[in-house]
Amino acid sequence: MRVLFIGGTGNLSYEASLRALDRGIELFHLNRGSRPDRAIPGLCTLHADVRDRDALERVLSGLRFDAVVDFIAYTPEDVARDIELFRDRAAQYVFISSASVYRKPGTGQVITESTRLHNPYWGYARAKIACERRLEAEGAASGFPYTIVRPSHTYGRGWIPSAFSSGSFTVPARILAGKEIVVPGDGQTLWTITHARDFSVGLLGLLGRAEAIGEAFQITGDEALTWDAIHLALARALGKEARIVHIPSEFIARANPAMGERLLGDKAWSSVFDCAKLKRLVPEFRTTVSLAEGLRESLAWLFEDDSRRIIDTETDAAIERILATWHRAEAAAFLSD
Ligand SMILES: NC(=O)c1ccc[n+]([C@@H]2O[C@H](COP(=O)([O-])OP(=O)(O)OC[C@H]3O[C@@H](n4cnc5c(N)ncnc54)[C@H](OP(=O)(O)O)[C@@H]3O)[C@@H](O)[C@H]2O)c1
Repeated sequence: MRVLFIGGTGNLSYEASLRALDRGIELFHLNRGSRPDRAIPGLCTLHADVRDRDALERVLSGLRFDAVVDFIAYTPEDVARDIELFRDRAAQYVFISSASVYRKPGTGQVITESTRLHNPYWGYARAKIACERRLEAEGAASGFPYTIVRPSHTYGRGWIPSAFSSGSFTVPARILAGKEIVVPGDGQTLWTITHARDFSVGLLGLLGRAEAIGEAFQITGDEALTWDAIHLALARALGKEARIVHIPSEFIARANPAMGERLLGDKAWSSVFDCAKLKRLVPEFRTTVSLAEGLRESLAWLFEDDSRRIIDTETDAAIERILATWHRAEAAAFLSD
């Protein structure tokens, strides 16, 4: 099977690439080549910026694929471009959407593919919904062979799942320094975290499958943990104590709207998924990497080289400001008692 990944060296797509090659897939990447540390022998990289239409036409000229997976489509315009580019070049087009598309405020019910899509809080999720709608319309109008994939919070090597900035070392660095960390709400919301290796099994199982055409699949792990448990597991893996401060998501949203939309539009709500639809088609899909194991592996990778532990200074400063505002509000509340 000949497959193209648009992206390929990212958090999800890198692990999927390793598995694809392992399974004998003839794999192509399309990216700008800015991650030479993630060059994988055995695949062909097409160098282009997805925003450069002429470059895309040039590198794709004469190529056809059994499946194309776009990991970096975020807007209906991205999807419209892909429809034009791949209508005659791919037997299947896979759009990587997001589990944040599901109805917010959450209802606490187990989420399936038929849960309503609605997110008044987060523009990112609304744009993913619009992408899905564009594909459904195109599928109905012209038979465009799309498959929609909805990952939940997914992490690979080097990523550390937490409520803020999972792609950086910001929260682990705070724990190591003995600083307070913010956990949204009362810390008891159930949150599903998926390792990218497990995600890859689900994704690759859908490629080349006629049954997946015109369908949406969520690909998430079975491990749903509270936010407290997730941060405590991280602190344990670091050999430190977690100084957790619980702050309501609505308070955080008022103090920092950008952080707030990611909480109220996603992480503030219990998110437990039923992946029976995927498992019927891909029975080998299951959770094999526990959070404890994934954390150990990511931390080991991050500590191999100091330059890998990048702190998002903007988020760190925002966390400091939110903590200061919260402590002031707490003090004022107790003083007025
Ligand atoms: N992680 C999660 O928890 C989660 C949850 C739900 C949904 N998702 C979805 O998963 C997808 C992200 O997948 P990922 O983590 O594998 O991707 P990623 O980490 O965002 O990686 C980006 C990849 O795309 C390439 N790229 C970036 N900009 C490009 C451009 N302008 N032109 C060409 N290539 C470009 C990068 O290579 P170069 O820099 O070399 O070009 C790299 O290979 C997104 O659609 C996101 O919405 C993720």
